[in-house]
Amino acid sequence: MAERTALAIRDLAVQFESEQGVVRALDGVSFDLHAGRTLGIVGESGCGKSVTARSILRIVDRPGRITGGHMLLDPGTPQEVDLAALDPESKRMREVRGGRIGLIFQEPMTALSVHYTVGNQIIEAVRQHSDVSKEEARNRAIELLREVGIPRPETRISAYPFELSGGLRQRVGIAMALAGDPEIVIADEPTTALDVTTQAQILALLRRLQAEKNIALMLITHDMGVIAEMADEVAVMYLGRVVEFAPVQQVFAAPRHPYTRALLRAVPSILATPRQRLSTIGGAVPHPGSRPTGCAYHPRCSERIGAICMEQRPRPVPSGEAGASCFKDEAREQAA
Ligand SMILES: Nc1ncnc2c1ncn2[C@@H]1O[C@H](COP(=O)(O)OP(=O)(O)OP(=O)(O)O)[C@@H](O)[C@H]1O
Ligand SMILES: [Mg+2]
Repeated sequence: MAERTALAIRDLAVQFESEQGVVRALDGVSFDLHAGRTLGIVGESGCGKSVTARSILRIVDRPGRITGGHMLLDPGTPQEVDLAALDPESKRMREVRGGRIGLIFQEPMTALSVHYTVGNQIIEAVRQHSDVSKEEARNRAIELLREVGIPRPETRISAYPFELSGGLRQRVGIAMALAGDPEIVIADEPTTALDVTTQAQILALLRRLQAEKNIALMLITHDMGVIAEMADEVAVMYLGRVVEFAPVQQVFAAPRHPYTRALLRAVPSILATPRQRLSTIGGAVPHPGSRPTGCAYHPRCSERIGAICMEQRPRPVPSGEAGASCFKDEAREQAA
């Protein structure tokens, strides 16, 4: 399926510098987002998922800064623009933020204020990105609330966020993200704070909106179950790098990176006997400030093939192609 590439990330590098030293939070991340498709980004805490999302929107917290790479919006077209080269405060970047790329947070209150009604906040967001009257913006806000499945939107528009349940608040968060009619949506753990039933409803909502609006969705999660349900392609991240990229069926049927295999083993199986202990990945994620030599996963890897894993960096996954950044996988490929 040749869907339009909406955003191409190439060799993105982000550092946090402090007196304690330099933390390479992202160390050469590449992937593409396509219209109408979902890229699932998965990995343990601290691997750089949120920094990737925040970099794309140019809202990385200080002292973080982009030190290399490109983020091409509309790549290969006359409108192509490198978000990595824009001033985060520029008019262009403010148009992109919300207008071309929407962000859904884990905790909807991050995007919402306690002081204003949900209606006022959505109306404000609509008016930021289109030149419409107050009346039109209000109608659009009601329509958005209806689209995200909020019952009685004409009444609910006057509610304050704290008057709504967690599930309804996340629906409002999604309405906020869609207010500027973006064609790319980044959802950073959008259901982690919700109970399972509400989680399923919100994921179904995201799937429906994506299909209706042909959105390029980047879905961040640490949950392989969410990946299985939502993603078309998967990027597995470890310590600021993409270590495996593949179509979703391939990731589950034939994972190529030992880290991906370990993540899959850590998923509770529906076949597991009740109370069976979950297999967890041995060892903790090292701090990105003290990255192991060679393949950064080698200290935890049960499938190391030798000194090469400790000494050399495996080649990165070629962007747009399925593959794993792993010497064992390279050896297997050469043998085949
Ligand atoms: N504000 C900050 N100051 C310093 N370092 C930071 C900051 N934000 C992130 N980092 C560094 O970047 C790394 C990646 O962080 P990030 O928030 O992207 O992880 P994540 O994959 O989203 O994890 P989680 O699953 O816990 O949300 C962290 O391990 C941390 O070292
Ligand atoms: Mg995060």
